[in-house]
Amino acid sequence: MAPVQAEQTHDPSMHMQHMQGMQTMGAETAASDTRAIVHFPDQMRIHTLAHMRDHLLALSEIQEALALGKFEKAGEIAEQRLGMTAMKLHGAKERSQYMPEAMAAIGSEMHRAASRFAVAASNAAVVDEVRPALAALSDVTRQCVACHNGFRVQ
Ligand code: HEC
Repeated sequence: MAPVQAEQTHDPSMHMQHMQGMQTMGAETAASDTRAIVHFPDQMRIHTLAHMRDHLLALSEIQEALALGKFEKAGEIAEQRLGMTAMKLHGAKERSQYMPEAMAAIGSEMHRAASRFAVAASNAAVVDEVRPALAALSDVTRQCVACHNGFRVQ
């Protein structure tokens, strides 16, 4: 079950509260950082951050592919770099042993959401309708946001 999805997608008023909460938080973060600190071994932290930068690049490449109507390609990028395939390739299991349970759950949900997006993108190719794929993509980025709001590594 997606912890973040359950809270945010189905109840617009919750969403508003959340947004207001984030604005308040924005003002406070200058003075204090309430994210939980997670300790990774040095090499793991460096690798993780490198993967993170690739996540962001992947999102950009996915958006570009969608804009060009290259739906299959968008799906492939998502599956290979963010989805369940990426999870197996990049030792996410090993990393998750160092994570608090809530953080690992968000990570797993991100991989699952990316694989769901890959399916939605491939459907978009068939029906020539991109909106469900865009909605599925926002489920992916929501997991990025959730984890970044909650955790940092040291
Ligand atoms: C399970 C948790 C988690 C998920 C999911 C996650 N991130 Fe991160 N990400 C982190 C943490 C922790 C950091 C380090 C933050 C810190 O220590 O200040 C980070 C840092 C980053 C950075 C900065 C890298 C650097 O070199 O400093 C980028 C860019 C980034 N994430 C992109 C993404 C994108 C894009 C997604 C979604 C597709 C994503 N992340 C999903 C946990 C996550």
